[in-house]
Amino acid sequence: MAMSAATSHSLLLKNPNNPLKPTTTTTQIATFPTTLSRPTTNQKPPISITCSSAPAAATTTPLQTLPSTSSDRVFNFAAGPATLPENVLLKAQSELYNWRGSGMSVMEMSHRGKEFLSIIQKAESDLRILLNISSDYAVLFLQGGATTQFAAIPLNLCQPDDTVDYIVTGSWSDKAYKEAARFSKPNVIWTGKSEKYTKIPSFDSLQQSPHAKYLHICANETIHGVEFKDYPKPNNPNTILIADMSSNFCSKPVDVSKFGLIYAGAQKNVGPSGVTIVIIRKDLIGNAQPITPIMLDYKIHAENNSLYNTPPCFGIYMCGLVFEDLLAQGGLVEVEKNNQKKAKILYDAIDVSNGFYRCPVDKSVRSLMNVPFTLEKSELEAEFIKEAAKEKMLQLKGHRSVGGMRASIYNAMPYAGVEKLVAFMKDFQARHG
Ligand SMILES: Cc1ncc(COP(=O)(O)O)c(C=O)c1O
Repeated sequence: MAMSAATSHSLLLKNPNNPLKPTTTTTQIATFPTTLSRPTTNQKPPISITCSSAPAAATTTPLQTLPSTSSDRVFNFAAGPATLPENVLLKAQSELYNWRGSGMSVMEMSHRGKEFLSIIQKAESDLRILLNISSDYAVLFLQGGATTQFAAIPLNLCQPDDTVDYIVTGSWSDKAYKEAARFSKPNVIWTGKSEKYTKIPSFDSLQQSPHAKYLHICANETIHGVEFKDYPKPNNPNTILIADMSSNFCSKPVDVSKFGLIYAGAQKNVGPSGVTIVIIRKDLIGNAQPITPIMLDYKIHAENNSLYNTPPCFGIYMCGLVFEDLLAQGGLVEVEKNNQKKAKILYDAIDVSNGFYRCPVDKSVRSLMNVPFTLEKSELEAEFIKEAAKEKMLQLKGHRSVGGMRASIYNAMPYAGVEKLVAFMKDFQARHG
């Protein structure tokens, strides 16, 4: 990335002769363009982020180091917190010390000041464009991770004796179900446990509870790598569909109108940990159980535009940069195409390996985001992970509960990263097969 020429800025320094009257001196301060190029590691044409809410040209005080380049970075296959788009990181780096001429970092701003309000409002409106979210829905930026939503959902959407339905397709939906048991009467209407969570049920076979307040699914099981390709429809028109989209949020277009509530922790596809996004149909808000803590009450957060208390400001800012980037890529239709291409070369490599590599997940529901695989010779797995790390491909170890390997290839994983992994897998097989 080219940095623009340094420009002169005046700095006020303490005058030793008269401490009350500062002297003026001139120093060289590097300025960054407001538009940053997207590094070309994935061989796509450069795209740029422009920030329409910028009140002034971005000017930064001296940076001791130049922004790092892609050659310094590893390919990070972690399941979350996960890799972020390089151009977003560079943009944040360039604005870290002095956000767009405000004289402050986003980390230092009042959450009620006009600067931060412009950041959170733009983040929300860009997300609404990305997912085509209608005004019937509230968008909330919350804290506590998706895990907190496991409790907030039953607390807000049903009373203690109400029945709610859960489809359990992996560890995360299982955790959500167990938490719901503290605040409602959940029914597991299907579980993939006996098949080691490698499947999604056929929707016709589901025995839904006739009066369930909601039907909960985990749209993408991060640990097991199973992803809903379509969504079940509640039989009862009063039952709403709820999805934990933590690990495939904004990875593809979603018809939000099919859902009463969608929630997602940001730290996989759209930002750093610390931000949880809830998209909820407005008419469902306002019926929380009396024991609901104020911080879990959607009504409080909706009425206060996610500013009831101090929100995770910097995390929300980062999410906003990611949303801009996704829009600049052409929106979620284009994003999904890239994700399909990346997942295809990886699953193909597994499938043509004559069993050297295996992915246990039913082919029709394989996740585009999290690809679990094992080695036929399981004694080689540690060596695989070690050698991959030497090649700057990190975090490929599978979750401790399932073992093997897992490559998380979220939106921000460049095509080149998956290509490199596939080439490494072929080479590893040639040497150890
Ligand atoms: C699908 C899914 N749901 C929920 C969670 C829990 O999220 P958090 O750690 O933000 O509470 C995770 C975390 O990895 C996840 O992958």
